[in-house]
Amino acid sequence: MQNPERFLITGGIPLHGTVVIDGAKNSALSIMAACLLTSEKCILENVPQLKDVYSMIEVIKTLGVKVEWKENNTLYIDSDDFNNFEAPYELVKTMRASFLVMGPLLARLNKAKISLPGGCAIGARPVDFHLKGFRALGADIITEKGYIQAEVKRLKGNDIYFDFPSLGATENIMMAASLAEGITMIENAAKDPEVIELGNFLNKMGAKVNGLGSDIITIEGVKRLKGVKYRIIPDRIEAGTYMVAAAITGGTVEIDNVNPSYLKSCIVKLEEAGIKVEIKEDDNIIISNTDAIKSVDIKTMPFPGFPTDLQAQFMALMTIANGTSIITENVFESRFAHAGDLRRMGADIKVEGRNCIIKGVKKLSAAPVMASDLRGGAALILASLAAEGTTEISRIYHIDRGYVRIEDKLSNLGAKIKRE
Ligand code: EPZ
Repeated sequence: MQNPERFLITGGIPLHGTVVIDGAKNSALSIMAACLLTSEKCILENVPQLKDVYSMIEVIKTLGVKVEWKENNTLYIDSDDFNNFEAPYELVKTMRASFLVMGPLLARLNKAKISLPGGCAIGARPVDFHLKGFRALGADIITEKGYIQAEVKRLKGNDIYFDFPSLGATENIMMAASLAEGITMIENAAKDPEVIELGNFLNKMGAKVNGLGSDIITIEGVKRLKGVKYRIIPDRIEAGTYMVAAAITGGTVEIDNVNPSYLKSCIVKLEEAGIKVEIKEDDNIIISNTDAIKSVDIKTMPFPGFPTDLQAQFMALMTIANGTSIITENVFESRFAHAGDLRRMGADIKVEGRNCIIKGVKKLSAAPVMASDLRGGAALILASLAAEGTTEISRIYHIDRGYVRIEDKLSNLGAKIKRE
C-alpha cells in the first residue's frame, strides 16, 4: 500500500524570499551507478536526500556495494566487493533509473541480469536503445520472463547511433565503453548537463571521454578507473519548478545555487510570458511577477530545447495566462496526465495527441486532485498555490521522489502548505 500522505495547500499568497536548490537527482543517480566502475572508494558530495536516491542505494547495495551517508549530504561508496550481477524486479520496478547499473555490471562483471523496467505514467519507457548499444559493444542479450540477461567476454568499442538522443542510453553506454577495449563513438548522443557531468566524473576517474555536450561522444576504453571525490551539480528541474512557483503566485523569489546556463530555455519562456528574470552573480536567479501572465507556446525537445521535465509546471502557469497557449510534448508519448487534474481545478485544457491547448482562465479553484507522476505532481502544487481555497493533493509519494522537503521550502517562502 503506497503512503496515504497528502498535501493541503491554501492558495492566493504571493511567494517571497530565498530558496536554496539541492543536488541534481538525475546527475546523482547516474554518477552513483558509475561508482561501480572502480574497486576504489568514491565520495559524492551534495547528494540530495530523495526517495529515488534511496532506491538507487538499495539497488547498488544488493549488488554487493557498500554505501554510507556521511555528514551533510555526502555519500561514501565502496565497490570493492561488488559481486552480484542481478538487479531484482522489486527494486527495478520502483525506479527505472536502476537500469543504469547495466553498463557498470557488464564492464566490471561481464554479466548482468536486470528486470525490464516497467512503463510508468509518462510512457512505455522502453530500453531498446540501451540494448542496441550493449549488443554493439559485444554483449549477448536475451530477454525472458521480464528479465534481461546479458553476458560478454570483453566489451569492445564500436560505433553506435541512437535514433533519439536518449539521456539514459547515452549514460549507460558511456559507462560501459569507458572500460571496453578500443574506441566507442556515440552518434546522436544526449547533450544534457547530467550527461556532461557523468562524463566529467568518468574523466576524473581516468576515463577518456570526449565530445561531451555535442552530438558525438567518443570514449577510448582504459584498463581501470580510480576512486574519486565529486560534487553533484544543483538540480535544474527543482530550480525551474521554484521559478514557476514565484511566477504563478505573483511573488518575488531568489533561487540560490543554480546554474542559469542550464535553464536558458526556461528563462526565455518565462520572459516571453512577461515574468521578470534577473541573473545575480553566476549562481542566483531572481524571479518576480507583478503583471498579468502572457500565454506562450512550448515545445519540449532534447537538451538544449525546453525540458520535458518542466512541461507540466509550465502548463500550470499557462492555465491562468491571458490568452491561448499550445504545449507540444515531443519527448514522451503520454505526459499529460496532469491536464485532467488541472481541469478539475477549473483550467480550460484540451489534449490532442502530443498537443495541449490551454485557454487561460481568471482563477483556478481548489479541488481534491491526485499526483500521477513526479513532475505532474509538482504542477498540481503550483496550481494550488495560485488557486482560490484549499486544495488536497493525494499520492504525494510521487513528488517526494524528486523534491527535497518541498513543503518546508515553500512554507519558508510564505506558502500555506501542510503534509498530513
Ligand atoms: C531521463 O529519463 C530522466 N531520468 C527523465 O527524468 C527525463 O524526463 C528524461 O531523461 C528526458 O530528459 C533520469 O535521468 C533518471 P530518455 P530517460 O532515454 O533516460 C525513448 C524525472 O522527472 N526511449 O532520454 O529514461 C523514451 O521512451 C525523470 O526526473 C526509447 O524509445 O529518458 C522517451 O520517449 C522523468 N528507447 C525518449 O526516448 C530507449 O532505449 C527519451 O527518453 C530509451 C528511451
